[in-house]
Amino acid sequence: MAEVTVCDHPLVQHKLTLLREKHRSTANFRQVLRELSLLLAYEVTRDLPVELVEIETPLKAMQAPMLAGKKLVFASILRAGNGLVDGMLDLVPSARVAHVGIYRDHDTLEARRYFFKAPADLGERIVIVVDPMLATGNSATDAIDALKAEGAVDLRFLCLLAAPEGVARLSAAHPDVPIFTAAIDHRLNENGYIEPGLGDAGDRLYGTK
Ligand code: URA
Repeated sequence: MAEVTVCDHPLVQHKLTLLREKHRSTANFRQVLRELSLLLAYEVTRDLPVELVEIETPLKAMQAPMLAGKKLVFASILRAGNGLVDGMLDLVPSARVAHVGIYRDHDTLEARRYFFKAPADLGERIVIVVDPMLATGNSATDAIDALKAEGAVDLRFLCLLAAPEGVARLSAAHPDVPIFTAAIDHRLNENGYIEPGLGDAGDRLYGTK
């Protein structure tokens, strides 16, 4: 079973509630998602190692902590993943970005991959896979299959909302990949939507139907 962290910070929970409300405008949904992405990125990077480096302040020399070790890759599951990645890049501008294009077959809810592009040195990096919704878990599982096939070994999965079914599916397939989410909702409905959820994250982010 993968380690699951629910980010229960009051700001995260407040902003998630804003996103769930159905009458929120596209512009405001996008803005709040961006704010949430910063808070979630903070949580998913909490244990990154630091090392002391010698610097000089205007007053004195000192040893101060800086990030050490592996560099980051944010792997966005298209298209809604981009709504999280854009904000995360504000926090870690030097991160590389991978894109995994996946759509869900409407009848079977199976993942169909149509695009994959990632940095060459995945094995040397911490790969944070992002998708706002962990619903069936099929897309997340397929994206991580693809990233591992290309050499990734140190991965985390970050989402906004998870269904229990998605957590179970992903952690059975990839027990080594910790999952970070702002909430685990009640269930998946027969169309593969999370309930109560927030609807279709991609449609709400981009104003499509
Ligand atoms: N994808 C979404 O955007 N919303 C859901 O509820 C499930 C999958």
